[in-house]
Amino acid sequence: MVEQGLHKAEVTGSTPVPATMKKRILSGITPSGSALHIGNYFGAVKPQIDLQYDNEAFYFVADLHALTTVQERGVLENNIKNVILDYLALGLDPEKCVFFRQSDVPAHSQMMVVLGNYVTFAHMQRMHAFKDKLQKGAVTDTINMGLFNYPILMAADILLYKPVAIPVGEDQRQHVEITRDMAESFNKKYGDILVLPEPMISKETGRVVGTDGERKMSKSLGNVIGIFEDEEVIHKQIMSCFTDPNRIKATDPGRVDGNPIFIFHDLLNDDKAEVSELKERYVKGTVGDVEVKERLFAAHKRTFKDARERRNTLKADEEMTRRILRKGAEEAATVANQTLREVYETIGIINSLNKK
Ligand code: ADP
Ligand code: TRP
Repeated sequence: MVEQGLHKAEVTGSTPVPATMKKRILSGITPSGSALHIGNYFGAVKPQIDLQYDNEAFYFVADLHALTTVQERGVLENNIKNVILDYLALGLDPEKCVFFRQSDVPAHSQMMVVLGNYVTFAHMQRMHAFKDKLQKGAVTDTINMGLFNYPILMAADILLYKPVAIPVGEDQRQHVEITRDMAESFNKKYGDILVLPEPMISKETGRVVGTDGERKMSKSLGNVIGIFEDEEVIHKQIMSCFTDPNRIKATDPGRVDGNPIFIFHDLLNDDKAEVSELKERYVKGTVGDVEVKERLFAAHKRTFKDARERRNTLKADEEMTRRILRKGAEEAATVANQTLREVYETIGIINSLNKK
């Protein structure tokens, strides 16, 4: 497997942590689509999985966040199940980290109500997810408040656990930054209660390009290479990938730098000698696009073979997934409820009338 350039030692945060102590990190994934793609995998999932061994990691499925776009009961249920299976199959180990569903820990929603008071309306209007919709021509009466409030729920997700770092892809940086702003604004009023987290984004894979060679790989843009889809689907996605637009025939010298097919080879193909050889031949004009793509397809099959098999086994045992999530929710709630209580006490919601 490829090196990610994102190493455990890079976990840094604003709160000093003794060297011997494990660092607390946290991340979530929104089940807004039916399956993960290799952009999610190399940008977020793989770094998260690599980090679970040497850190105290909390990972969760942000099912309440998905409601901003998924409002069909059956679709949401399927998305949630799929993303959980995807994560477990790809190597998330519930013995090494705390893995849970956001909605199983009500403190997330409760904390959100508090945090909304520590960010201004103007600041919220500057957030990308909201602004992008406006730019795409949506008028404000078609944008739901869930989308507008998305960053506040995300800040609640994070601040409840006091993590020092948030491993995510580049597109989530702004969300982590506004979380820091909310924590800072809260701390300014009440003292050092909340921990300011750092985004933890891989330089090499924080923004994996899509098969169109231009935009970020994203399920909503239809420019993805999947992981668990049928092989024919993945073959088609790879064969439709853009390459060097100036190369007409296989005998024309081609460009390797920035060519999406070689970006994917560098990510996926464990046979580095094969990748070097293909690049050399591409530059000389002695290999065609079809062969380069077929080799990528073969590499994809090798890289994800075990995960695909594991996913089938897990899918057949729903009771095991239920057990994993129950345990995760209990462990997460212990931490989250403690912070919520501290926050309630700090702001005056828990006082002499209701304090136990
Ligand atoms: P999508 O854009 O396909 O809807 P999500 O928003 O669900 O993906 O992202 C899930 C996680 O994967 C986030 O941490 C996000 O930053 C990361 N991610 C998504 N797309 C990419 C990409 N193309 N490159 C790197 N990371 C990505
Ligand atoms: N917004 C993230 C995504 O779309 C998911 C998410 C929700 C998250 N809450 C979070 C990520 C807290 C990191 C920390 O993938």
